[in-house]
Amino acid sequence: MGSPPSRLLPADLTPFIGRREEAADVRRLLESSRLLTLTGPGGIGKTRLALHTARTKHRAFPGGVWSVDLSTLTDPSLLPQTVSAAMGLPDVSSTSRTEALIDYLSDRQGLLLLDNCEHLVDSCAQLARALLRASESLRILTTSRQPLGVEGEQIFQVPPFTVPLETSAVAPAEALLRYESVSLFVSRAQAVFPGFRLDAGNGPLVARLCRDLEGIPLAIELAAVRMRSLSVEEIVARLDDRFQLLTIGHRGRETRQTSLTAMVEWSYDLLDPLDRTLWTRLTVFTGGFDLAAAEAVCCDGELPAESLLDRLHNLVERSIVIRDDRRYRMLETLRQFGRARLAGSGELEATRARHRDWCRALAARATTGWAESEQRHWSRRLEAERHNIRAAIEYCLTTPEEAIKGLYLAADLWPFWLVHAVSEGRRHVERLLAALPRGAEADAAKVRGLWLAGWLAFYQGDIAAAHRHGDESAALAERLGDDLSRAYATYVRGLAAACDHDYPGAKALLSAAREHYDRAGDRPGHWLVTADLAGVLGVLGEIDAGVALCGPAIEQCAGRGARWNQSYLQWILADLRRLQGDLDEATRLLKEILEINRDFDDPTVIGACLESLSWVASGREDADSAAWLLGAAHATWGKAGISLLQYAAWGEAHADACAYARASLGEAAFDETYQRGEHMTPATAIDHVLKKKASPHDSPARTHIDELTPRELEIAKLVSEGLTNKRIAQRLVIAQRTAEGHVERILRKLGCTSRAQVAAWWISHSGGPGTRSAAG
Ligand SMILES: Nc1ncnc2c1ncn2[C@@H]1O[C@H](COP(=O)(O)OP(=O)(O)O)[C@@H](O)[C@H]1O
Ligand SMILES: [Mg+2]
Repeated sequence: MGSPPSRLLPADLTPFIGRREEAADVRRLLESSRLLTLTGPGGIGKTRLALHTARTKHRAFPGGVWSVDLSTLTDPSLLPQTVSAAMGLPDVSSTSRTEALIDYLSDRQGLLLLDNCEHLVDSCAQLARALLRASESLRILTTSRQPLGVEGEQIFQVPPFTVPLETSAVAPAEALLRYESVSLFVSRAQAVFPGFRLDAGNGPLVARLCRDLEGIPLAIELAAVRMRSLSVEEIVARLDDRFQLLTIGHRGRETRQTSLTAMVEWSYDLLDPLDRTLWTRLTVFTGGFDLAAAEAVCCDGELPAESLLDRLHNLVERSIVIRDDRRYRMLETLRQFGRARLAGSGELEATRARHRDWCRALAARATTGWAESEQRHWSRRLEAERHNIRAAIEYCLTTPEEAIKGLYLAADLWPFWLVHAVSEGRRHVERLLAALPRGAEADAAKVRGLWLAGWLAFYQGDIAAAHRHGDESAALAERLGDDLSRAYATYVRGLAAACDHDYPGAKALLSAAREHYDRAGDRPGHWLVTADLAGVLGVLGEIDAGVALCGPAIEQCAGRGARWNQSYLQWILADLRRLQGDLDEATRLLKEILEINRDFDDPTVIGACLESLSWVASGREDADSAAWLLGAAHATWGKAGISLLQYAAWGEAHADACAYARASLGEAAFDETYQRGEHMTPATAIDHVLKKKASPHDSPARTHIDELTPRELEIAKLVSEGLTNKRIAQRLVIAQRTAEGHVERILRKLGCTSRAQVAAWWISHSGGPGTRSAAG
């Protein structure tokens, strides 16, 4: 949220070559049509061209440029979640993610790049239709082997790289370098063999090779890495043999496919057998992997761990695997090839099972780490492995008898789902529950699954589902008879009772759950249920008892560095302090939580703190703060699909704060102030509360359009379009120094420290980014 658009585009690892005309065509088409699809076979360069366009057109889209790689997504129903996650939106909604996306995109002049849509054409078409209908200023650029088939879709067929004609074989080297394919070959050959030069001797051979490979960038890249050990002449000759084999084997196949296949197969065959094994086994990862993961999943007696680094290095050197900082990944074309080989070798199922086991071990370590001092680390680590986690769960769902393990995997990830993906987590768990076999072993898993599904449903405000899951697990826990099972069942039922305003019932159930957790030695469970029990005691008027419960638990969490759990307990304690009339202490506690939450970005806690602070503000008769905080809380929870106002007495506190602020400010001023809060991002709202910037009164969000002079407004708009001082000066035909002076004054008046903040201010105050920019 609120990050500069370019940060969301992946970095280029190799120089971008050629494509001047295509890039210009694509830019032009993107101006005249709202949905543009780049089509062409695998390896032709669709993704590179699309990313290049997104980067160079970035300034025409002040609302944001987002790119989403869909190659690793197998479940089409997760498409909206995947897109919103790539935009940095939290995923906690039980209502349609598409609606949340529409909401977010509706007034933004943005560019959405959906990369690699071919295996999800129908769902992508559906999503594109919905988004384009809802937002007039949005443009969508997709890459796909086939068009989406949406009305109004423009198609751009990405051509191969230019190749020298046979007649130009005798052209001088510099002339040959003007061909994109030759230029790519030379650039990649020099990367593996720095002494390589294109000259009169090898020029015609390189030209021939590029022709043979039909200008397909991926094929040329794979050929170029062979320069490590072969001459151009040898490469041409061996490729020739390959073509003969292939054309005999696959008569009638499209030739373009054949030359790429020839190149990929040749690369494969040339590898040492163990490197080949590694290539194929690595294809069970989706969304990349790190070294430790590769070792856990791919190594065995046949492929010893000691040799892994060397073998991985071999694959990177041959352009089969891409190294991206500390992670590795594979181009989809090469992954699919390897995956087919893995299936052919009969190893696919066993390797997927090992991949799942690795995910389970990771999730188990995360559970422990989350309860200790490493919550922040695990929050990020799991976020990076999201695609692998999905793949592992998918494996458990589609393979008979594996649902039990899948359920334990999903259940271990409970804090991750709450912070990052409530609706996705609940969906996985409910599908796994439905796939469970019968029997005692399954029942133990089922109790945990029902707990998690019910607990997540509670945060989504789906109380009927919380009841359903709670009741089902109660019967099961009774039969199983162990403490942990009973703890899970009674906890969910207690939460549901509190939502039904049955507070004595909730107190009894939550107290029982707490005892069961204690007897089972489950500390995080104890912390969670303690917070909820204390909240219910507050409603029952047993405030001191509630405070007495929170204190030791908070101390325990603080002592163990379990800051995330601490923030849940502390938020309940803050509300108890408010009920006791100690507004200063309540405020102090809530601010501390918001500070802690900068590490987690947990929308549930952030929204709750903003909401609680509005109740405190209304207690202090500060109607203005109460109003904007209510708006900010509503937006934070609303965007995330969290709904907690039906819980305990929160709905009443909320209604009281609203009524007070409305009566005190008057209808119009209340609405205006509330909306000001609604338009803030959670991060801005937190800044206001913590007074990181100025107070809301003279903060950027408050500064009115008419406090800037018309000239300054004009310049603020250009700043929001990404123009530098120099370009602004050129555009307005003024001296650069004058432009600088204006920009400095704007920053000062708005209380901003960066141009990005000015852009954000402009967008939220001008009712949109203004006229479409022709800047560049
Ligand atoms: N214009 C380009 N400049 C440099 N490398 C390119 C270019 N186009 C494609 N490539 C390289 O060729 C390979 C295949 O390109 P990619 O865009 O992934 O193809 P596609 O998306 O059509 O499957 C990648 O390794 C990519 O980096
Ligand atoms: Mg691609």
